[in-house]
Amino acid sequence: MLHRNHLLWNDPDAFKPERFADPKAIDRFAYLPFSAGSRVCIGASFAIQEAVIILATLLSHFEFTAISGRDPKPVMILTLRAEGGVWLTAKPVMDRFD
Ligand code: HEM
Repeated sequence: MLHRNHLLWNDPDAFKPERFADPKAIDRFAYLPFSAGSRVCIGASFAIQEAVIILATLLSHFEFTAISGRDPKPVMILTLRAEGGVWLTAKPVMDRFD
């Protein structure tokens, strides 16, 4: 809810990765994926590094495209997630390193 708050974000429901281009422009307490303060996530740096490695590995092997009629539906639990997962078609790409 914090990350979709219209008072804190311009067009918060839109997918705009460029809004994170300048981390200094983001209010310290408007974006808290790993919480903040004394109970902040101790795995934050590891999680980000892991996510980049997983994405880079997947994207070097597959091209992903959306499946028509299966748009992800955001559901608020404790965190926001896609109901029933995110459905994509994965097409193998030629591995340049083989
Ligand atoms: C994308 C991945 C992750 C997200 C979004 C995330 C998010 C969070 C959040 C929001 C909290 C604070 C919970 C609270 O306020 O009580 C937290 C705490 C914590 N996280 Fe993560 N986390 C992630 C990955 C990890 C990983 C990979 C590790 C360990 C290797 C980890 C270890 C912990 C621990 C130990 C705490 C408790 C810290 C404390 O209470 O002192 N997290 N995490």
